[in-house]
Amino acid sequence: MAELLHTGEELRQRLVAGAGGRGVVMTMGALHEGHATLVRAARERLGPEGTVVVTVFVNPLQFGAGEDLDRYPRTLEADLELAAEAGADVVFAPPVEEVYPGGEPQVRIAAGPMGERYEGASRPGHFDGVCTVVAKLLHLTAPDVAFFGEKDAQQLAVVRRMATDLNFPVEVVGVPTVREGDHVALSSRNRYLSEVERVSARELSRALLTGVQVAPKGPAAVRRAAQAVLEAAAGAEPPVVLDYLALIDPADFTEAADDHTGEAVLAVAARVGTTRLIDNVRIHF
Ligand code: PAJ
Repeated sequence: MAELLHTGEELRQRLVAGAGGRGVVMTMGALHEGHATLVRAARERLGPEGTVVVTVFVNPLQFGAGEDLDRYPRTLEADLELAAEAGADVVFAPPVEEVYPGGEPQVRIAAGPMGERYEGASRPGHFDGVCTVVAKLLHLTAPDVAFFGEKDAQQLAVVRRMATDLNFPVEVVGVPTVREGDHVALSSRNRYLSEVERVSARELSRALLTGVQVAPKGPAAVRRAAQAVLEAAAGAEPPVVLDYLALIDPADFTEAADDHTGEAVLAVAARVGTTRLIDNVRIHF
């Protein structure tokens, strides 16, 4: 069983006692196989002597008005079990007053231009909220290595950049996206989907994989192929309502040019019913 801790002070005392290196996997709970894969990657990297900390905190600061903060699933009992099974030593699940004792913090971290495009354009302030809580959780857990999923590609890029730009003494490791049998990326938000919505949701990964198939023809062909799938999906029942589809240079999260070479991220965001979904794949040109 993993140890469940709620306060920064409890965590500090527990971590002083820990030998070996330390890894952290930050989550908002409602854990699934995607999170478990991050925890297993941490255990593998840290070895049996290392300490693997999983944080579970639904961070109000990264939710916009009208987003799903209130209905976000909270399943701490099950999370504790899943985290332990995947190899966590400690689950740190602080109440909101522990993380933000004075209410909303006056001083925050600004994600900058990288945090204003794509997800940041659709969710103003989101990455400032992410950076602020990630910075706080890095201070509280003081890890050698922090693991983030490629599922949230822009978050991974912004957090990496924050660690570099602000000299956080941590290695940020990206972990590939875990998908279900029908290729839908695992997400805590998938549980909002009805059965028919779930079928429409498959069109996101289908668009991305269709793009991958024409990668040898170059960036413009990839965009067109993925776009065509999503245009058809707009007429599905229930419809896939596209927010953005973009081919992105992962270095700075700007649009990749038609003559782009090297790594790129083909990313999509769309709404099915009331659920907002994101997905992406890496493509090498
Ligand atoms: P959450 O959405 O719970 O995700 C926690 C971590 O799990 C993130 O690094 C995310 O990229 C990763 N993850 C989610 N689904 C995944 C999948 N299908 N495959 C691989 N990794 C996956 O992301 C957050 O929480 C928050 O923004 C947080 C970083 C905790 C800050 O509040």
